[in-house]
Amino acid sequence: MEKTLVIFKPSAMERSLVGQILTRFQQKGLIIAGIKMIQLDEKILREHYAHLVDKSFFPLLLKSMMTSPVIVMCLEGKDAINVVRLMTGATNGREALPGTIRGDFASSNQENIIHASSCPEDAEAEIKRFFAPGEIFEWKPVNLNFVYSPLEMA
Ligand code: TYD
Repeated sequence: MEKTLVIFKPSAMERSLVGQILTRFQQKGLIIAGIKMIQLDEKILREHYAHLVDKSFFPLLLKSMMTSPVIVMCLEGKDAINVVRLMTGATNGREALPGTIRGDFASSNQENIIHASSCPEDAEAEIKRFFAPGEIFEWKPVNLNFVYSPLEMA
C-alpha cells in the first residue's frame, strides 16, 4: 500500500467542493490516513512549489494558495499516487478530461481545486512537510477485502 498527499486548495474551500471530492476518493476505496485544516504561508509554499519559484505566475499562485485555509489529506491505497493523479486530471482544468476532478470542477490552470503528489519521492517529502508522524494513522477499514484481493494488499 502506498501513501499520497492531497491539498484541497482555496478554490475547493471557497466553492464548497470539499465534500463532493472527498466522497470520490472514499468511493474509490482510498483510506484517509491523515486529514487537517491549516493556513499555508509563503515559507511552506516556496518549499512545496520549489520547482515553480522562477515562473512568472508564481506570485499569483502564492497569493491564491494563501487566500483561505486549506485541507491537507494523506490518502492510502494500492498505487495510490498514480490512482489519485489519474482522478485529479491535467493541471489546466480546461484540458483535464471530463470525469476527473479538475475536468469536472475546474476551468483554470491556477484555480484547479486540488494538489496531488506526482511521484513517490514527492509524496514522501510532502507528507513529511504537512504532517507530524503522530498525525498519520496506520489503520485499515474492515471492508478492505472487498476493495482489493489478498494479492493486491501484499
Ligand atoms: P504543477 O506542479 O506543474 O502541476 P500539478 O499541480 O498538476 O502537479 O503546477 C503546480 C501548480 O501551479 C498548479 O496546480 C497550478 C499552478 N500553475 C499555474 O498557475 N499556471 C501554470 O501555467 C502552471 C503550469 C501551474
